[in-house]
Amino acid sequence: MPIDVKGVSFSYNTGTTLEKVALENINLSIGKGEFILIGGEIGSGKSTLIRHFNGLLKPSTGQVIVDGMPAHEKHVKTKVGILFQFPQNQLFAKTVYEDVAFGPSNFGIKGKQLDKRVIHALQLAGVREELYDRSPFTLSGGEMRLVAIAGVLAMQPDYLLLDEPLSGLDPENKNSLLLLLKTLHSQGISVVIVSHRIADMLFLADRVFLMQDGRVSFKGKPDDYIYSTSSPLPDITSLMKDLRQKGIDVRDDVFSIEDAFDEITRVQKERMVR
Ligand SMILES: Nc1ncnc2c1ncn2[C@@H]1O[C@H](COP(=O)(O)OP(=O)(O)O)[C@@H](O)[C@H]1O
Ligand SMILES: [Mg+2]
Repeated sequence: MPIDVKGVSFSYNTGTTLEKVALENINLSIGKGEFILIGGEIGSGKSTLIRHFNGLLKPSTGQVIVDGMPAHEKHVKTKVGILFQFPQNQLFAKTVYEDVAFGPSNFGIKGKQLDKRVIHALQLAGVREELYDRSPFTLSGGEMRLVAIAGVLAMQPDYLLLDEPLSGLDPENKNSLLLLLKTLHSQGISVVIVSHRIADMLFLADRVFLMQDGRVSFKGKPDDYIYSTSSPLPDITSLMKDLRQKGIDVRDDVFSIEDAFDEITRVQKERMVR
């Protein structure tokens, strides 16, 4: 069952002089098991949009339906987990363990079952065991983000929404987070990533939505996105294009380092045969 967004518009500060239309007539659907990227410049409405997916915001007009139910029903909050842009705002308990336990215990899970869930979520997110008893506020930015993810995973959501999850991470942490999201997706969780820089994540995505001034300006597959918008190319795609221009006969419709590696290896082998 999908997340269906039907004719959704949303304004902040309605009826005041500060009224701001942030979303205008959004129609889209996110299927179970999909890996979705939502791109667009800062201020285009990305965060506002995903806050509608689990009912944190209610549309001014239109509706959001999750698995057949209005998104603001309490039950939906357990199905749709959201990781905010600043994980430190999401953490509050005395220890990492308690923080991750908070969500499920609030939904009546206790004892052994709770412990199992918490440990599983912490392990899945890759939080090191020596951090379980630490205060979340003594952790590094990358570690905090993993703890916040564990907290969301402990609710066993069907959909995982992440708002600018790579911002502030170093390249190594970025890669391990993308790997984690790939793993979670392969286990059946739908992943929705919001970012103003989606180019280097295109290889993960089934579909891409682009936001512009509160509207969806593009919907489609990563390949169509690359060829139909003037958006920046992934670094790896630019590299392949450069190689082609230098006369090396590689394909340039390549979005992942793995595919680029295979493609370059193939061309190298062909050259050796000749
Ligand atoms: N709490 C708020 N009050 C008033 N305006 C807001 C608020 N949050 C966001 N906006 C405005 O709504 C628009 C969309 O914002 P946002 O959804 O945060 O965009 P994005 O996530 O793409 O950067 C922007 O013009 C922003 O200034
Ligand atoms: Mg935002």
